Amino acid sequence: MKRTQADAPGKVILFGEHAVVYGRPALAVPLLKVRAKAVLQPTSGEAFRIIAPDLKRDYPLTQAQPDDPLATIVSLTLNHLEQPTPPEATLSVSSTIPLGRGLGSGAAISSAIVRATAAFFERTLSPATISALVYEVEKLYHGTPSGIDNTVVAFEQPVYFIKGRPIRRIRVAQPLTLVVGDTGLISPTHKVVGDLRQRRLADVERYEGYFDEIEVITHQAGQAIEYGTSTLTGIGKLMNENQEILETIGVSSPALERLIGAARRAGALGAKLSGAGWGGNMIALAMPGEAPQIARALTEAGAVGVIITEVE
Ligand code: PMV
Repeated sequence: MKRTQADAPGKVILFGEHAVVYGRPALAVPLLKVRAKAVLQPTSGEAFRIIAPDLKRDYPLTQAQPDDPLATIVSLTLNHLEQPTPPEATLSVSSTIPLGRGLGSGAAISSAIVRATAAFFERTLSPATISALVYEVEKLYHGTPSGIDNTVVAFEQPVYFIKGRPIRRIRVAQPLTLVVGDTGLISPTHKVVGDLRQRRLADVERYEGYFDEIEVITHQAGQAIEYGTSTLTGIGKLMNENQEILETIGVSSPALERLIGAARRAGALGAKLSGAGWGGNMIALAMPGEAPQIARALTEAGAVGVIITEVE
């Protein structure tokens, strides 16, 4: 057996988070600049071990807790590869994707592990297979994940995603310059999703109405991004409209709104939270030359990390 390594990107949701849990579409793109990496190094005579310095973890696979996400994806992948006995090897996992901030770190780490493990057995798995394996682990983090994270991370392409439907990859007609700003607050997706579920149950009709509005916005944004039916200014406006609904349904926060306001004042065409909300990251759409000034404004407003990225 040879040493193998693989990686996978982060992601940002551009439109439709939360509504996607209730069957509406969402639009997400890979964040290629930040990645998770998995390395599988053969050892002789030593049982399979997992080392994750970012998580301060180092343990044999046999001693992992039943709900351990790293051990779970290893076991699922070995099962899929029909390798009942874990190989004598050490799995090292690292990532430049901020953890728990809505940038898909969990899905990226899992995808990198699936790829490196498959490569160890000289196999290549399709993006659809990787996505399906990673989805099983997403359930540990999220409870009721829509599946958008594993899809966009495993396919590494912009997707227009509807739960339970075949995935639709989209071509980007006009490049988008995005500035991603990190509040630094860890936001447990399952808590935000669970909290919203309770509020929705208390007034289903009203919340379904909000999700319908988000669906219209996401549909228009999809058309604009894929076919250029609207200008960048138009896409920015749709982001602001999506944000307004996210605020209404209670998944935004003062920290997010401080960054969103700063980005808009610095010239962003639109800005909104991205992912589950409460904490985590926001995104701003910039005219190509204006990203640096928006990035500076975000840092001055307290962002702990800023990423400028092009979606092409
Ligand atoms: O993992 P996050 O924080 O990007 O959130 C995923 C987006 C949600 O729509 C809130 C949940 C889901 O499963 O789609």
